[in-house]
Amino acid sequence: MLNNMPVSYSGIQPSGNLTIGNYLGALRNFSAYSEKYKCFYCVVDEHAITVRQVPADLRRRTYETFALYMACGLDPEKNTLYVQSHVHAHAELAWLLNCFTMFGELSRMTQFKDKSQRHADNINAGLFTYPVLMAADILLYQTDVVPVGIDQKQHVELCRDIAERFNAIHPGTFTVPEPIMAKTGMKIMSLAEPTKKMSKSDENPNAIVYILDDRDTIIRKFKRAVTDSETCIRYAEGKDGINNLMSIYSCFTGKGFEEIEREFEGKGYGDFKLAVGEVCADALAPVQKRHAELLADKGYLEAMMKKGADEAAYYARKTLSKVQKKLGFVML
Ligand code: TRP
Repeated sequence: MLNNMPVSYSGIQPSGNLTIGNYLGALRNFSAYSEKYKCFYCVVDEHAITVRQVPADLRRRTYETFALYMACGLDPEKNTLYVQSHVHAHAELAWLLNCFTMFGELSRMTQFKDKSQRHADNINAGLFTYPVLMAADILLYQTDVVPVGIDQKQHVELCRDIAERFNAIHPGTFTVPEPIMAKTGMKIMSLAEPTKKMSKSDENPNAIVYILDDRDTIIRKFKRAVTDSETCIRYAEGKDGINNLMSIYSCFTGKGFEEIEREFEGKGYGDFKLAVGEVCADALAPVQKRHAELLADKGYLEAMMKKGADEAAYYARKTLSKVQKKLGFVML
């Protein structure tokens, strides 16, 4: 709890471009959180280097991701928005927590297993201890809730185990966080293979709609979306492509499936795909406009980054000192 509000913590990697799955499942819901929670949002550049990055791209994407948080409506006056590497306590607590995390636990992480297959030439120790750095992010702020997608749930559970293990030895050190999952938009599927989640690391660019795709690109991608050989727009088992398009349309318009079925009765897949593309492009247009304005003013973005980092560092320091004291370090 901070100022009588539970703490919410969330991180986004500045690698790859964010998709409409990230937007619908996470970003667009975040601005309402500040009514209920004290929110921290972090651009996790230190996590990003667990796979090789081109430095100039990483730097650009760090600005872009930070600007995107703001463009999606996060007010830096109401939320703490910052970049992970600007707050040194993250890397430092991660080391300490490494000594409270078991090799076996980290070996069981499915994301590690996946990523070490995908990056077989670079299975570095950072990739292995990635969840420990994530635990440090969360625990530094005495976080109560972590809004995550299903793919990060295992990491939050490990974070809880680490916190409980530490607390069992040194009572009262960390708040044990709960993962929370958004109701809608969590499962936006690939447009090319609608049984697979839409993922920003997908190699097929037509499978993914990015938040920053321009209108024509968005409409083209939806037009090419894989569907089935029927012609009727209805939500049904086996119609994964149409189900996915209906979910996306529903997320953007707030309409239920039956209402959508009625709206498109007698119409073909082509009309429906165009309509989905249009509502998506319309919804993203103001976000894109604001994003471009923010990126045009690096000085302002940097000032916001600095402000966020100072705020975050204040809370992070408190937790880090507490941990160091409990561990028996000499405090000067
Ligand atoms: N691992 C998360 C992801 O790839 C990003 C992340 C880093 C995060 N630290 C976090 C998410 C802390 C929530 C809380 O999506």
